[in-house]
Amino acid sequence: MCRNLSNYALIFLFVALSGLIFLLRNIHTVENWNCHTVSALYKLQSRIQSSFIPVNLPTFHHNRTFCANLGQKPSPEDELEERYLLGSIAWPRPPARSAPPALRQTSDPVHSLFTILPTREGRAWHVGDQLEVLVQMHDFQGRPKHYGGDFLLARLHTPELGAGVAGQVLDHKNGLYSALFPLLWLGSAQVEITMVHSSEAVAVLRRLREERPDRVFFKSLFRLGFLSETTLCNICLPPDQQPLCNYTDLYTGEPWYCYKPKMLSCDTRINHAKGGYLKHLITNREALLFQSGVNLKVAIHASGADRINVLPRRKDPTKFAPSGFYYADSWRPLGGTSVRRFNDSSAITQCLKNKVVNMYGDSTARQWFEYLTEFVPELKEFNLHSPKNVGPFMAVESTNNILLKYRCHGPPIRFSTVTASELRYVSNELDGLAGGPDTVVVLSIWSHFSTFPVEVYIRRLRHIRRAVLRLLDRAPGTVVVIRSANLQALDQEVSLYNSDWFSLQLDDVLRAMFRGLNVQLVDAWQMSAAHHLPHALHPPEVIVKNMIDVLLSHICPEEKKSPQT
Ligand SMILES: *[C@@H]1O[C@H](CO)[C@@H](O)[C@H](O)[C@H]1NC(C)=O
Ligand SMILES: *[C@@H]1O[C@H](CO)[C@@H](O)[C@H](O)[C@H]1NC(C)=O
Ligand SMILES: *[C@@H]1O[C@H](CO)[C@@H](O)[C@H](O)[C@H]1NC(C)=O
Repeated sequence: MCRNLSNYALIFLFVALSGLIFLLRNIHTVENWNCHTVSALYKLQSRIQSSFIPVNLPTFHHNRTFCANLGQKPSPEDELEERYLLGSIAWPRPPARSAPPALRQTSDPVHSLFTILPTREGRAWHVGDQLEVLVQMHDFQGRPKHYGGDFLLARLHTPELGAGVAGQVLDHKNGLYSALFPLLWLGSAQVEITMVHSSEAVAVLRRLREERPDRVFFKSLFRLGFLSETTLCNICLPPDQQPLCNYTDLYTGEPWYCYKPKMLSCDTRINHAKGGYLKHLITNREALLFQSGVNLKVAIHASGADRINVLPRRKDPTKFAPSGFYYADSWRPLGGTSVRRFNDSSAITQCLKNKVVNMYGDSTARQWFEYLTEFVPELKEFNLHSPKNVGPFMAVESTNNILLKYRCHGPPIRFSTVTASELRYVSNELDGLAGGPDTVVVLSIWSHFSTFPVEVYIRRLRHIRRAVLRLLDRAPGTVVVIRSANLQALDQEVSLYNSDWFSLQLDDVLRAMFRGLNVQLVDAWQMSAAHHLPHALHPPEVIVKNMIDVLLSHICPEEKKSPQT
């Protein structure tokens, strides 16, 4: 009897424990069920679907025609421009080899050296002169390199003065590089040369860009009633795998596809989101080319002195003029525009009085929106119930009649869930603006294009440029400001998706495509390259402050002093 009882107790204990374990395991799901009104069935289903996504990735043929069969064919003029643009960003390739290079044959920043060249007449340096530095690249065995294609950055700076300027790097395609700097301030100045990637690493990135546009993948949720499915999406999907939903934009022809859900129609797309990043894209040997502290953003040392002393101005400025430089930690553009400092919020509200500022782009445009709403407390964010970090966002200052808006650009966009109805192409949004002297348009579109062939970016910018021109034609006073790409922190993983080399190539295309138009450029590239703070995808606040000063100076330029009578 006693024995029987203890048996029952054991069984009871077992059942109770199993129940508890079941409950604990599912508590997360249960919580989710409680805070949404959607059915538990749907939640469970989408959870299962999402977790299947990486497993379901189709196997693609990775070759250069991967994306070519999707999207409209460009017109002959567009094709001509595309060829010109691609030619203008041509990057030297390492010589063809029968086998991939061993690490010891690749560029090594530690063995490489730079030398400050003396002035032509052997005299002292003066403000307005050009400083030339010669860089000789070596491999890990210390042997000089005989071909170009390394990605180098150059900076001249004086920390005590808060001064810095980005240098121009010229590739002589024989292992030698020149870095040119304008001398813009007095006193001691120090040269800094950084190898971002070896030419061999750039060759890997180039291959990924052309052949692996699937290395960032996207997904969409489809839902109707209790049914829901999640499928894979991208700018191009091989059509031979499964039926496609074609979301190509009717106005621009911008392509976008998802695999068709099995049970639901293409009309039931609810949202868009980043799916993830593919791993194992490169071989172990290739991975050696992307080692932080070894051959990824590593400084090259000077063979002699790494600094010079600059004396007062003697002659006119030199040929190479950067867009600006830092002095006393403030950005000073060269070539006309002077920057006003907007140090307090009232200066900003005075500048933006009666204006509507429309910001479009990636998170680097959103960062400007966030800076303004944080720095100007009167600029109250209006709650649109948008998802965090995604938007759209809106802020209002009613005393001075200011409206500030932000919206992300159309796909490819690697944000967390964007509602399908909020997926808009910038060019279509611009077509919806009346424009005028009180309308400001801010564009920052670059980072989410780095995993695709450059043609994809060219096509996107072409559509945006056309819409900008239409806007400026119907409302000539509209202020259009374009923010360029910037440098960012790189490790091996980030390099494969977002290397500065991808950004640089896109940025060169951006500048070329908007050159000569009535739009203003905020040179985020040089503003990050010339600054002493570490590179970051979202630059530190001091740099953003300088960018906002430049932006606002374009919106409210300094009043021209009327000539004395
Ligand atoms: C490239 O891939 C496509 C499918 O994605 C295939 O049809 C084509 O034959 C491939 N081309 C080469 C040269 O392998
Ligand atoms: C998708 O739709 C666009 C526009 O209607 C069309 O030009 C394109 O050929 C379609 N793509 C496919 C793969 O059918
Ligand atoms: C803004 O602040 C900077 C740095 O503190 C200072 O040099 C500058 O004089 C200030 N300008 C104005 C207009 O307040």
